[in-house]
Amino acid sequence: KHVAVIYGGWSAERPVSLSSGTECIKALREKGYRVTEIDAGRDLAAQLAAIDPKPDVVFNALHGRWGEDGCVQGLLEIMGIPYTHSGVRASSIAMDKMSAKAMFMEYDIPCARHVWVSRDEIASGNALPPPYVLKPNNEGSSVGVEIILTAEEEQNMLAREWTHGDGVMQEEFIPGREMTVAVKDGKAMEIIEIMTGNHAFYDFESKYVAGGSEHIIPADIPGDLRAKIQDCAEKAYRALGCRGIARADFRYDPTEDRVAILEINTQPGMTPTSLVPDAARHDGLSFADIVAWMVEDASC
Ligand code: DAL
Ligand code: MG
Repeated sequence: KHVAVIYGGWSAERPVSLSSGTECIKALREKGYRVTEIDAGRDLAAQLAAIDPKPDVVFNALHGRWGEDGCVQGLLEIMGIPYTHSGVRASSIAMDKMSAKAMFMEYDIPCARHVWVSRDEIASGNALPPPYVLKPNNEGSSVGVEIILTAEEEQNMLAREWTHGDGVMQEEFIPGREMTVAVKDGKAMEIIEIMTGNHAFYDFESKYVAGGSEHIIPADIPGDLRAKIQDCAEKAYRALGCRGIARADFRYDPTEDRVAILEINTQPGMTPTSLVPDAARHDGLSFADIVAWMVEDASC
C-alpha cells in the first residue's frame, strides 16, 4: 500500500506532530509500506492532489487545530482518500472542549464542573472559586493551560497579562491521580497512570521531555475502578463516534473515590514519550504493529 503521512502542520502542536509523524514514517517503512511524507501546509489539498500515484491511505499524524478538529478530515472525505483515526464529527466535537463536555454530560460520563468565563467574570467573582484549571477551548498538549490552586495564585494571574482572549474554559481542579486509557476500535486498552514527579501537572515538558513523566502500566488500581474508567472511556468514544485509536484522559480523586474524564483525544500523540505506544506494547503490539493496524483500519 501507498501511504501519505501528513504531519507538521501549523497548529501550536506542530513540534509534537513532527515527532509523531517521524516515528510513524519509520514504522511504516519498516512494515514495507510505500510512504510519501507531507509537511502539511495551507495548500494541503494541492499537496495531496500532486501525489502520483494517488495514495491508498492518508496517515494523519497531525495534532491540534486544522489537523485534529475535522478540517483535514473533511478535505479527505471530499477527496475520497481513506484516512486514519476519527472522522469529521468526532474530531470536531472532541477538539472543542466545551462541546465534548456537553456530550459527556448527556451520556452520563462523569466529568469536572466547568463554565465558560471571561477575565472580568473571574475578577468579579462570578466564576468558579480556586482551585481550578483554565483551558483554551481548542488546543492540545496542555498548550495554554493554567492551574490556579489558591486565591493568591488567582490574584497573581489577574495581575499578569490576560492571554485567553474573550473567554476560556474554567474547570474545577480535581486533586489526585492522572490516568489515561487508549480505546482501539471501541475497546478500552490497559489503563496507564501518569506520574509527573516534580511537575505540578502533566504539562508540555513532562509530556515530551524524555524522563519528564513515568508511565505505570497497568495502573495500580482496584479492579472495579479499572472497569469504571475503561467503561467511561468506551462510552466517550461511542458518544462522539470515534474511529480507530483515540485516548481518553482522566483524573481520579482517591479521597472522594471520584473519576472524572477530562477529554478524549482523537489524534493521540505517537512520539517516543507518548502513551498509546505504551498501551499497545502492553498488548503485545510493537509501535510498528499499531501504526500498521491504523493504516489497515483507515476509511472515509
Ligand atoms: N495532543 C497530544 C498530541 C495528545 O493528546 O497526545
Ligand atoms: Mg488533548
